Amino acid sequence: MPTRTQVAIIGAGPAGLILGHLLHLRGIDSIIIENHDREYVIHRVRAGVLEQGTVDLMHEMGVGDRLAREGLRHEGLYLACDGTRHHIDLAGLTNGRAITIYGQGEVVKDLIDARIATGRPLHFDASNVSVHNIDSEHPSVRYDVNGESYELSCDFIAGCDGFHGVCRPSIPAGALCAYEKTYSFAWLGILAEAAPASPELVYSVHQNGFALFSMRSPQVTRLYLQCAANEDLSQWSDDRIWSELIARLRTHDGWQPNTGPILQKGIAAMRSFVADPMRYGRLYLAGDAAHIVPPTGAKGLNLAAADVWRLSRALAEFYDEGSTAGLDAYSERGLRRTWRAQRFSWWMTTMLHRDATATPFDYRRQIADVEYLVSSRAAMTSFAENYVGVPLE
Ligand code: FAD
Ligand code: PHB
Repeated sequence: MPTRTQVAIIGAGPAGLILGHLLHLRGIDSIIIENHDREYVIHRVRAGVLEQGTVDLMHEMGVGDRLAREGLRHEGLYLACDGTRHHIDLAGLTNGRAITIYGQGEVVKDLIDARIATGRPLHFDASNVSVHNIDSEHPSVRYDVNGESYELSCDFIAGCDGFHGVCRPSIPAGALCAYEKTYSFAWLGILAEAAPASPELVYSVHQNGFALFSMRSPQVTRLYLQCAANEDLSQWSDDRIWSELIARLRTHDGWQPNTGPILQKGIAAMRSFVADPMRYGRLYLAGDAAHIVPPTGAKGLNLAAADVWRLSRALAEFYDEGSTAGLDAYSERGLRRTWRAQRFSWWMTTMLHRDATATPFDYRRQIADVEYLVSSRAAMTSFAENYVGVPLE
């Protein structure tokens, strides 16, 4: 196994795999080190909504064939409140920009296949991963695979290892400022073998709490309902999940999600988090390692893609021209994009969820927020341009 590379990438989630491929296309060597197995990273049920910019990036990278065939392009979505569904014409409000439904597992699978086809290293099941000398020009990564220990020297380390990874905690205390907000609620999410009852997503405000109707394919529906942050999943029988989802999503026109066997269920925590700066020495943080948004705005994977797109260009500038300008600007540009997504995700979350301390006033005000949004072209345009995402810059 090589013990030297240009860029050591920690984590084979969307951030690490997209970065590895973008660097490959620019002729830059990397090794990707992942501490779980391939099945785990492919089968983790997470994101579903890709912004226009992320879809365009997948095509530019040459990994968009299956996405083009199987992804579901959505030009609008619904916001429901008080039993009424209101349509928002995303494409009409943003000069034709749209979102595409394509599960994170599918994105990761396509990127792993592409990585393997390049012949460049991708190590699953690595343990004891640690980063060293990150404040020098000669950082290194130590890890074990198959009982062997390795020390990899490199020029740069990309910390793409998610919120619970090792990279961010390796930065000395005091060098990072962490901005954080936790919420009193979480999402209980299910995948169900049921044809989607609506061709577009439905985000619903309800007095019992938020619910979201989404999908993965013409045969599989993805649904979420707001639950307590410390919710015990074992208290949720399939019948209870369906009756709560239907109560929160059903509208007066008779629409409700189709039901079917539940294929998977889980609870996702809600958090807003920003690490500032996104860099320490030669360690660059990208994706969830640097920032977390609550999933309501569907921004996390898309932010991860934007980070590594910028990082790949900065690294190419360094290797091709010897310039550190892009690397020096990496954090500041990333933070600008992150805070924009943070604001939008927090705003959508607070508009649509019922906080444990909410009063009847708060609930009526939330309904007024949604009713204003869906009645004002200016407000819908603002919503739509944030939801479909700002282009990569
Ligand atoms: P991750 O996907 O977390 O990948 C990090 C990788 O690093 C993992 O494979 C992990 O195993 C590995 N790793 C961790 N520690 C180590 C270590 N010590 N050594 C080596 N490897 C390590 N985003 C959207 O854009 N749209 C959506 O619709 C959306 N919906 C979501 C719905 C839910 C329910 C949830 C929970 C999230 C959603 N997100 C969404 C967010 C999205 O899933 C994340 O933002 C995305 O996974 C971030 O990618 P990443 O590569 O930065 O991190
Ligand atoms: C999903 O389909 O998983 C999904 C859709 C919209 C969101 C979050 C997740 O805001």
